[in-house]
Amino acid sequence: MKKNIAVVGYGGQGGWHANHALKSDVIALGGIFDIKEERQQAARDAGIKAYNSLDEILADNSIDIVVCATPNDVHKDIVIRSLEAGKNVVCEKPVALSIEDFDDMCEAAKKAGKLFTVHQNRRWDVDFLAIKSIIESGEIGETINIESRVHGSRGIPSDWRCLKPYGGGMVLDWGVHLIDQMLQLIPEKIVKIYCELTNITTNEVDDGMHLMLTFESGKRATVEVGTYNFIYMPRFYMQCKTGSALIEDWQKKCKVAKMKAWNEKEVMPVQTAAGITKTMAPRDEITLDTYEIERPTSDVHDFYRNVVKAIDGKEEQLIKLCEVRRVLQVMEACFKSGETGQAIIFENGF
Ligand SMILES: NC(=O)c1ccc[n+]([C@@H]2O[C@H](COP(=O)([O-])OP(=O)(O)OC[C@H]3O[C@@H](n4cnc5c(N)ncnc54)[C@H](O)[C@@H]3O)[C@@H](O)[C@H]2O)c1
Repeated sequence: MKKNIAVVGYGGQGGWHANHALKSDVIALGGIFDIKEERQQAARDAGIKAYNSLDEILADNSIDIVVCATPNDVHKDIVIRSLEAGKNVVCEKPVALSIEDFDDMCEAAKKAGKLFTVHQNRRWDVDFLAIKSIIESGEIGETINIESRVHGSRGIPSDWRCLKPYGGGMVLDWGVHLIDQMLQLIPEKIVKIYCELTNITTNEVDDGMHLMLTFESGKRATVEVGTYNFIYMPRFYMQCKTGSALIEDWQKKCKVAKMKAWNEKEVMPVQTAAGITKTMAPRDEITLDTYEIERPTSDVHDFYRNVVKAIDGKEEQLIKLCEVRRVLQVMEACFKSGETGQAIIFENGF
């Protein structure tokens, strides 16, 4: 039987959850609640039940899951109240504005014995899955360095996202997704974090980030979010021991260059203004294979399929709270490094 969800916060992302529930094979939409009357009316106009308050949702025994899709500053209150009322909870990212707040939320879930998870939906992004599949296949060897970037050119949106008290800023908006993906790609302890934050279009919050992570084995990662890039850099670039991979943008296939042999008999130099270079000349097809991999298939609704199975004890929860907490730790270090201009060293890694 389908689980009934109620969506709290019927804005852009709340609308996404509601629409998905309407077409879902595992969840149904019980209704929504939004503090803005116009959003309540928009739901009614769409034939969706608008509850008068969060309390009304919590008192409704037919609701199995509360989905929290409000601005970031009110996640904590809604999540804890819902768990205490005996509801399972799906919370939008970033789940909380501090690790302490998140720990309180986890404690409430533990006490209630209810499922609590976070909508890290970019784990289903095809570009991320393509890079992950190359790492897992081992076809170009061990990872050395991964660079993950999203670039826009319109600054930060002018809604609550550009205001600090609501949990605005690009680290919390896009950084959270990219860091979550990176920690899935390199499942190792982090030993060093250095981050620069940008304030090109506003001083209120960060409108971009450039994060460098060093892992226990020496693997490195760059995570970059830009909102003032009029030419975009590739979405993913990865160096491995026996090859490299590149994804130009969301729609493109992953290009792979796989080394067939290290030693070359002859190198054709390239001409530069200052003279010729062999060191930086491209390899030829005798020692390098270049090809594209098919885009992996992905269905983001598998998030809810997992949530429902996890509630019924049939599957382990996919987005684990310990993973979410680690992403929060990285984001906290990003802010600290951004403010101090210093790299943060973790002696024992985390
Ligand atoms: N996972 C994703 O891909 C993704 C994408 C976009 C947004 N989000 C997240 O979803 C959340 C909402 O973002 P959005 O873009 O939909 O914002 P939004 O401004 O479009 O919508 C938020 C809605 O919440 C309502 N609201 C505010 N406080 C409330 C409260 N206390 N109770 C009930 N309703 C309340 C507002 O009136 C508004 O309608 C944020 O946490 C954001 O980071 C996630």
